[in-house]
Amino acid sequence: MPDEVLPLDLTAVRTTRAMRYLRSDPIPEDLLWSILDVAIRGPSGGNRQNWGWVVVTDPATKRPIAEWYRAGWEALYGKDRARHLAGETELGRGNFVSADHLARTIEHAPVWVFPVLRDIGAAPGPRTGASIYGAVQNLMIAARAHGIASALTSLYSFGHEDEVNRLLGLPEDARTFALVPLGYPARGEFVEPRRPPVETVVHWERWGERRPRE
Ligand SMILES: Cc1cc2nc3c(=O)[nH]c(=O)nc-3n(C[C@H](O)[C@H](O)[C@H](O)COP(=O)(O)O)c2cc1C
Repeated sequence: MPDEVLPLDLTAVRTTRAMRYLRSDPIPEDLLWSILDVAIRGPSGGNRQNWGWVVVTDPATKRPIAEWYRAGWEALYGKDRARHLAGETELGRGNFVSADHLARTIEHAPVWVFPVLRDIGAAPGPRTGASIYGAVQNLMIAARAHGIASALTSLYSFGHEDEVNRLLGLPEDARTFALVPLGYPARGEFVEPRRPPVETVVHWERWGERRPRE
């Protein structure tokens, strides 16, 4: 193989992370088209592309979903506020504070995108979501490349899946896989998300076989 460095810049990929302080300024529609056009380059099983992307800006749609989001947030995390703030949980104080901020303000993000899959059957398997989450990451990377922040969220449908589907007017065989609020960042930088060193999670040939990174 030629030892060639392709002229590709992975900065946008490396610096896409959950950003939860979003300004309410609108995002130009041509940018949204361009971001969604990158999203749909993502992978899907059998290349079925059985998806749809619901873009929501209407406060009347956002309002009830934001309330359900807050209820989900409260039930799963908010109720342990003191422990999270004391840094006694896996989530950590910083993540808690920013996620709490998003929960309180999510409807102010100017654009919400719901990635939707159709025809997933009655018993979705563990890999069902793989047919859309790659495309969702594409969306977030493309947004970041345009200076637009985002976060993949899941708490919006907590106990209200059917109501969300109805509000969005989804066909019977469709369901949402995330809610991605988009907005220009109000706080926070596009920096690499923190992760343990890659050597600690890579296994060579068999689980447990580690190698130092040269
Ligand atoms: C399946 C899934 C569900 C998530 N749900 C939420 C959510 O409801 N609210 C939220 O603020 N972040 C949510 N996140 C974002 C994660 O908290 C985030 O990806 C993680 O903390 C890493 O953030 P970082 O890349 O900025 O380090 C979710 C992520 C995934 C993959």
